Amino acid sequence: MARNCIGLDIGSSSIKAVHLRKSKRGLQLQAFGMEPLMPQTIVDGTIMDQSAVVDAIRALWNRLKLRRKDVAIAIAGHSVIIKKISVPAMSNSELAEQISYEAEHHIPFAKDDVEIDYEVISRHNANGQMDLLLVAAKKEVVADYTQVVRDASLQPMVVDVAAFTAQNGFEANYELTPQDTVVLVNVGAAISNINIIRGQQSLFTRDVTIGGNSFTEEIQKQLNVSQDEAEAYKVGGSYDEHGVVPQEVERVIEGVAEVIAGEFQRSLDFFLATSADTNVDRICLAGGSAKVVALHRAIERRSHLPVEIVDPWRRVEIDPKLDAAYLNAHAPEALVGLGLALRAPNDK
Ligand SMILES: Nc1ncnc2c1ncn2[C@@H]1O[C@H](COP(=O)(O)OP(=O)(O)OP(=O)(O)O)[C@@H](O)[C@H]1O
Ligand SMILES: [Mg+2]
Repeated sequence: MARNCIGLDIGSSSIKAVHLRKSKRGLQLQAFGMEPLMPQTIVDGTIMDQSAVVDAIRALWNRLKLRRKDVAIAIAGHSVIIKKISVPAMSNSELAEQISYEAEHHIPFAKDDVEIDYEVISRHNANGQMDLLLVAAKKEVVADYTQVVRDASLQPMVVDVAAFTAQNGFEANYELTPQDTVVLVNVGAAISNINIIRGQQSLFTRDVTIGGNSFTEEIQKQLNVSQDEAEAYKVGGSYDEHGVVPQEVERVIEGVAEVIAGEFQRSLDFFLATSADTNVDRICLAGGSAKVVALHRAIERRSHLPVEIVDPWRRVEIDPKLDAAYLNAHAPEALVGLGLALRAPNDK
């Protein structure tokens, strides 16, 4: 059985590594860990401090005692464009030749500045054309992410897109019938990846630049505290000198949750307005900020849909040597890494 990559999720608040073993019995988790990054190390999806990321990767590999070097990574945000496009019907080889020309009409970047990938969704649509899912990623950003991996003495074998990776991780754990439609939202620190999935197919993706940082920044501003204090207040583990989390924190969190839920709803409304199939069954949240209870509730209120938190370990056998409490506490953060860990080194 072909060995799969180690999933390396380079997030702006932390990097995560997931090592899976695939066998006849299913998926077995060999290792999972996270290594925090200082704020400003990665800003708007751009790596500002390369050596800090390299150090974090090395530290994580040492701590988890990982020996494998093949890794799969993901990129997200403004540097990636995902679009459904239609092109005249043609053969695979013609398509391979023509794609960058076709793509040029659909992406706002110069064709020499992007790497193009695509998947054929339909060979023959109602208008006799082909439907493709086009992915264009800025070369510069792909190069930056693969370079930190190489600088950490690892091999970047697969570069995926976070929204699709989250979908992969989700599908490994949940069965969707061809009619089931879920809105999968990976709510990180800086970016949230939205992917609306029906059956096994992605109907709509969008990355919005909003996430857990918004809570921290607003607490910082409103309560006039440091970033560290604000972060600690947010996760609820910190108390002030009187032994209580200020009530104001709750109020600020509620306010920001409304704003973020509103942003997600705009994407959902756009999908519903522009798509022929207009039913959505539920919303599934992942990412560290899925743990903000007020956000969960705000999304539920606005969407009138059931909201649940994805468990990336649902169908994964956990090695008894691993710390189950740690895995559960950080389950939402692990979804992208899990999706990456499913990839084989020779995958496209
Ligand atoms: N228990 C918790 N309560 C509230 N927020 C939390 C909790 N645990 C983590 N978070 C928040 O989740 C975010 C980190 O999530 P995640 O690891 O998914 O993001 P990331 O991948 O580092 O960032 P991005 O993908 O946006 O670059 C941070 O904003 C963090 O404060
Ligand atoms: Mg992330």
